[in-house]
Amino acid sequence: MTAQHPLALLEVPSGPLQVFDYPTVAQNAHVHNQGTLKSQHSIKFSLIIPTYNEGTNIQDIICLLSGLLDQAIPGEYELLVVDDNSPDRTWEIAQGLMSQYPQLRVMRRQLERGLSSAVIRGWQAARGEILGVIDADLQHPPEVLLKLLNAVEQGADLAVASRHVEGGGVSEWSLARRFLSRGAQTLGLILLPGVVGRVTDPMSGYFMVRRSAISDRTLYPLGYKILLEVLGRGDIGQIAEVGYVFQERQQGESKVTSKQYIEYLHHLTRLRIAGGRLGRIQQRFEIPLGRLVRFGLVGFSGVFVDMTLLYLLSDPTTLGLPLNLGKSIAAEIAIFNNFLWNDAWTFGDLTSSQKGIQKRFKRFLKFNFICLAGLVLNLLTFDVLVYLLGVNPYLANLIAIAIVTVWNFWLNLKLSWRVTEVK
Ligand code: GDD
Ligand code: MN
Repeated sequence: MTAQHPLALLEVPSGPLQVFDYPTVAQNAHVHNQGTLKSQHSIKFSLIIPTYNEGTNIQDIICLLSGLLDQAIPGEYELLVVDDNSPDRTWEIAQGLMSQYPQLRVMRRQLERGLSSAVIRGWQAARGEILGVIDADLQHPPEVLLKLLNAVEQGADLAVASRHVEGGGVSEWSLARRFLSRGAQTLGLILLPGVVGRVTDPMSGYFMVRRSAISDRTLYPLGYKILLEVLGRGDIGQIAEVGYVFQERQQGESKVTSKQYIEYLHHLTRLRIAGGRLGRIQQRFEIPLGRLVRFGLVGFSGVFVDMTLLYLLSDPTTLGLPLNLGKSIAAEIAIFNNFLWNDAWTFGDLTSSQKGIQKRFKRFLKFNFICLAGLVLNLLTFDVLVYLLGVNPYLANLIAIAIVTVWNFWLNLKLSWRVTEVK
């Protein structure tokens, strides 16, 4: 069995991104999450070093970290390099260091990619009671590690290295970069005050957390900012911060692109939704919120199609068709427009397993039928509200539209785009 070989690479955990409340060892490479066993012993501390093309840094950082930790907690720690199959073969270089550094373990991921998930996969394979992360490029000063560790041992659930407390800072950042970094933080504060506001440096990628504070909770990280996820979904009581100066990169290149900024925004909104009342309702009733929003947007586009066509067909200055005829054609084409968008976008993930023109046509017929029924419901609701309950017609129209949108969405989800699980 390869797993027993001392210098072998670690197996890559699969399944949900969830850290167990006890350290696990893989029983068998093929049945990962189901087949985990409680490992013989746990250790005090596991430190993940995520890498992508850090071949020029990896030896230095391992050497520095081992030196520090061998002094402080000999034999009670492990260093876990999680490399995403770097073209410069960082994983191979790291593996070559294992004989020299017995506390070093290396994981090479070939299927998944991304900083945040790399960190969690590393934690999943870790044996420590305290789980940490540090960049491989020496921008995070290793000495701070012992202060962080000390803080957790003193009772903190989370210890964060911060650029924004005493002793912290950045080395030679341009005004623009400082501005961007602070802007991102401010945005986070507005969207997620209860999460982002708990630390001075929510962007920090240098921190450690008690295993018990995040165990058995599925994490849904996105992009770079794993700390947000830990703060947002973990059970974090006491927090400690330690100042540090973010060093300039000496070797290799940063992997940050504009994509990471977009992902950051997406991550913030997702956490915001998950944490709010809406998120609790969504989870309780399993409402596919993203899909509903897409459906609503498509519906909105249909209104424009409908209006434009009505004008082109029935306006006296254009074709001048009878109003009822014009309206019917306009509505039908709008329904067709909505179907195309929904089929490709709103339910695109479901459509991909139901290919073929015939199936598509069937979906269209169902969609059409449900929408027409929706129209009847729309009128009925409107009439009841206005004539029976005396509601203002515009308000009544709004309520009717909202009800019909939900009706249309739900029935179409259940009938038109339903995927039968049976194979
Ligand atoms: N496994 C893996 N997969 N590692 C990655 C990936 C990836 O897709 N992308 C980046 N890394 C590794 C890098 O090799 C490095 O060790 C670390 O993650 C940080 O990447 P950088 O590209 O150097 O990021 P930075 O210098 O902009 O640092 C920013 O992000 C850090 C991490 O969140 C700053 O915001 C830091 O404060 C923060 O610690
Ligand atoms: Mn860096």
